[in-house]
Amino acid sequence: MKRREFLLATASAAVLPLRAFAAGPFELRAQKVTANILPADTYPASYLQGFNGTVPGPEIRVRLGDTVNVRLVNELDEGTAVHWHGVRLENAMDGVPILTQEIVDPAASFDYQFTPKDAGTFWYHSHYLSHEQVARGQMGPLVIDEVDGPDVDHDIVAMLTDWRFDPDGVLMEDYGSMHDVAHAGRLGNFAKAFLPDVALRIGERVRLRLINASVDRIFPLGFAGLEGRIVAIDGMPLAASRSFDGLVLAPAQRADIIADVTGRVQVFMPSQPDNYVLGEIIAEGEVARRTVEVPTLPPHSVPSPTKVNQELVLTMQGGAMSRGHAGDNIWAFNDVSDLQSAPFASFERGETAKITLVNETSFAHGIHLHGHHFYEVNPDGSMGDLRDTTLVQAGEQRDILCVFDNPGRWMLHCHMLSHSVGGMKTWVYVA
Ligand code: C2O
Ligand code: CU
Repeated sequence: MKRREFLLATASAAVLPLRAFAAGPFELRAQKVTANILPADTYPASYLQGFNGTVPGPEIRVRLGDTVNVRLVNELDEGTAVHWHGVRLENAMDGVPILTQEIVDPAASFDYQFTPKDAGTFWYHSHYLSHEQVARGQMGPLVIDEVDGPDVDHDIVAMLTDWRFDPDGVLMEDYGSMHDVAHAGRLGNFAKAFLPDVALRIGERVRLRLINASVDRIFPLGFAGLEGRIVAIDGMPLAASRSFDGLVLAPAQRADIIADVTGRVQVFMPSQPDNYVLGEIIAEGEVARRTVEVPTLPPHSVPSPTKVNQELVLTMQGGAMSRGHAGDNIWAFNDVSDLQSAPFASFERGETAKITLVNETSFAHGIHLHGHHFYEVNPDGSMGDLRDTTLVQAGEQRDILCVFDNPGRWMLHCHMLSHSVGGMKTWVYVA
């Protein structure tokens, strides 16, 4: 097989698992899964790791105000734990081994119960050996519906994923290679958006929830067959919608778009000479298009920053082609690699802090804070987007403002999971 064909092989639209939330504890079984990621007509099924027989795992969807009640059952032969990415929840439910809970051993289970404070697009993923377990498929969508959501005909999730297969279509297991870890992470050779198998008609209005569930890949995105606006970023509604132009999702970032179908829907990575199509949905038939503009979503309830009480600097260091640092792994923050017994910073509950994220390295990093959302500060000093993961390009820096109002021990790490395992992680304490 020619490598080029392999790289450009188009993903067929896959069936996203059914919504799977019931009132009682919903069993989320971490297990080995055999599934087709590559086109099934040419390649064999792959041996993966997912939940409830599927990769991505089942869509968990509740309404704002409802309680998520999930029993994680570990059917793997190694430990695991599940993190609810972007959700402002109680620390004990955050799913981070050692920091917030014990590892869930094989055959053991753990009950996660929390009532999300925000409607929006979130996701769940393993937070144990995550550079391996997420790369094998241990992730899924978590959607919190608004009580009074926007008027759309379809509300669907696109999980963006990135895989590394050998020429026979077998998933490669070279996790944590020094070369990958020290560069841009473990980038795959096949990327795919998992989209549901829905019937779309031209003229219908769709809410598409894009989730970058890849381990290390940054996705620049474009769309065909859709005319609309971005209405939310990292689960949080935008006060004013914006155009699709220049949309980029770093690992773990999300964007919600609301758009009218104008033809066959495609989600692609812009590239030359042809775009790399990540997934598509065929549109058949036609209905009259709505005359009203794309609406904005109901506002969020994240507290606004007040007077800055602490100003901190977090410098990303290490990796290939960078100067050294004093940490004892490939990457470091402020000359310290990996989680130490002391936090990077401590906050009084409700305190506003400004953190200057300085990227001294030769690679981009997507920095994620658990348990909180924060504001990016624009270069002109104005308040930017509310996010839980911010992309800082090589050699650049960005200030963020955060109200640390959620008590507990929260991880702060690069969400390029290969960088995280390579040492780019720390934690903060909120009293
Ligand atoms: Cu999405 Cu620490 O994780
Ligand atoms: Cu990184």
